[in-house]
Amino acid sequence: MKIVIATSEAVPFAKTGGLADVTTALAKSLTQLGHDVSLFLPYYPQIQARGAGASCAVESTGTDLSIPIGTHQRSGRILRTSLPDSELDVYLVDQPLFYDRRELYRENNVDYQDNCERFIFFSRGVLEAVRQLDLQPDLIHAHDWQTGLIPALLTLEYSQQPDFAQTGSVLTIHNLAFQGQFWHWDMTLTGLDWKHFNWREMEFYGHLNLLKTGIVFADQITTVSPTYAREIQTKEHGAGLDPVLKFREERLTGILNGVDVTEWNPALDPHLTKNYDVESLATGKAACKAELQRLMQLPVRKDVPLLGMVSRMADQKGFDIIAGCMDELLAEDLQLVFLGTGDETYEKYLRQVADENPEQVAVTVGFDEGLAHKIEAGCDMYLMPSRFEPCGLNQMYSLVYGTVPIVRAVGGLADSVVDASAANLRSGLANGFSFEEYKPAALLSAVRRALDAYNVPDQWQQLVTTGMSTDWSWQRSAKRYLDVYAKAIAGVANRNADE
Ligand code: ADP
Ligand code: GLC
Repeated sequence: MKIVIATSEAVPFAKTGGLADVTTALAKSLTQLGHDVSLFLPYYPQIQARGAGASCAVESTGTDLSIPIGTHQRSGRILRTSLPDSELDVYLVDQPLFYDRRELYRENNVDYQDNCERFIFFSRGVLEAVRQLDLQPDLIHAHDWQTGLIPALLTLEYSQQPDFAQTGSVLTIHNLAFQGQFWHWDMTLTGLDWKHFNWREMEFYGHLNLLKTGIVFADQITTVSPTYAREIQTKEHGAGLDPVLKFREERLTGILNGVDVTEWNPALDPHLTKNYDVESLATGKAACKAELQRLMQLPVRKDVPLLGMVSRMADQKGFDIIAGCMDELLAEDLQLVFLGTGDETYEKYLRQVADENPEQVAVTVGFDEGLAHKIEAGCDMYLMPSRFEPCGLNQMYSLVYGTVPIVRAVGGLADSVVDASAANLRSGLANGFSFEEYKPAALLSAVRRALDAYNVPDQWQQLVTTGMSTDWSWQRSAKRYLDVYAKAIAGVANRNADE
């Protein structure tokens, strides 16, 4: 199958969160399964440096773009590079005016004002490049609001052209909290007729909504876990889009993300002071733990439970309930390490807790890939008390690294972490700790259960071994995407070109 993946993030080129891990891992797995995949990204200038240097040179394709944005034509170019250690083609939509920025979407907690224009240009750029490069894909896979316009453009404009007449589209929702919502006049930037600005299509409470647009026009929709697929059809988790998701229920599938085991594997991870697998766990993890304690300037103690968290510092991730039980947590004999960046309130709060409790808490504010790996390997337990979590990757990385996750049972966390209840321990399925209520007391009680289990070596060993022995690889998820792609392509015939 010929597949085009369009995304605003992909490792190692550009990343703010899990989207970047997922698009690259999916593209690589589909390629390994024998499919012809092209990945499209905006050309952020940081890509040169991050693309693992010289092994992935950025070159011209000789393809120039002229994209209508409202009443203007904006020029651009298509560049090409490849993923490190892969044959897969990566196409880069280049327009410095839009993408030569310090960050991807926002600076100092404020969104770039022209985000709508930036990603309309990208969405149109992808389709125009696909046409000019004559890629003739069977399927275009868009991700999140940044590419939500692609299914609409495909249906309303491109499907009239013979090369696109059979092309199906899939939209994956990674997080309903980000919808790409803009004021109504931005509708003119899309180049689509105002008649589509209605509640059944692109309009949402008087605004232009690019995620809704994608949901409405895509042939198939996926999200990143089966539980989240159910949750988002409810008022509580639907962020206002639950009616449209419910309406499209038959086209909506939840597929749990996997782990890219070429990036996240304790036996091969170049960031670790000592590599380990399930057999050499005890010595390997002890070395990684000591190194992490040293690095984070915590007392180097073998016996103390070390809990970690690597996260965007956002309301989604449960920092308020952590704060709500911080005093009780610190009354226990434990250490906490945090790595993250985002909301200034949480950054300041955690820095202050670390300053006041230097023996127990260490915080690094920033984005640090290497440290993220060291935390996954060096900690005994991993905290992920999310308010909501479409999938979540770090709990799976933790399982692979023998680090026991403590999570709230929502979204993908509920689909990957099996609580250490008596029954689950007996059946050998338990791999972590989970709690239901979004309350500090519920989190605290889960942490205390984990601390108790940590003191029963056989039980702890069982939890760790279960997590490490499960197959979290992407091949499994990629096959499920192929089923959805096949459905999308089969459904193309039913597309109504006039809608
Ligand atoms: P989300 O996409 O909601 O942020 P995920 O758990 O799906 O959450 O993915 C987060 C990804 O981003 C993981 O690979 C995690 O290690 C990484 N990450 C988040 N914050 C940081 C940070 N400050 N430094 C390094 N990696 C980070
Ligand atoms: C989003 C979600 C996260 C998910 C990631 C990749 O950022 O918040 O739960 O794992 O996308 O799909």
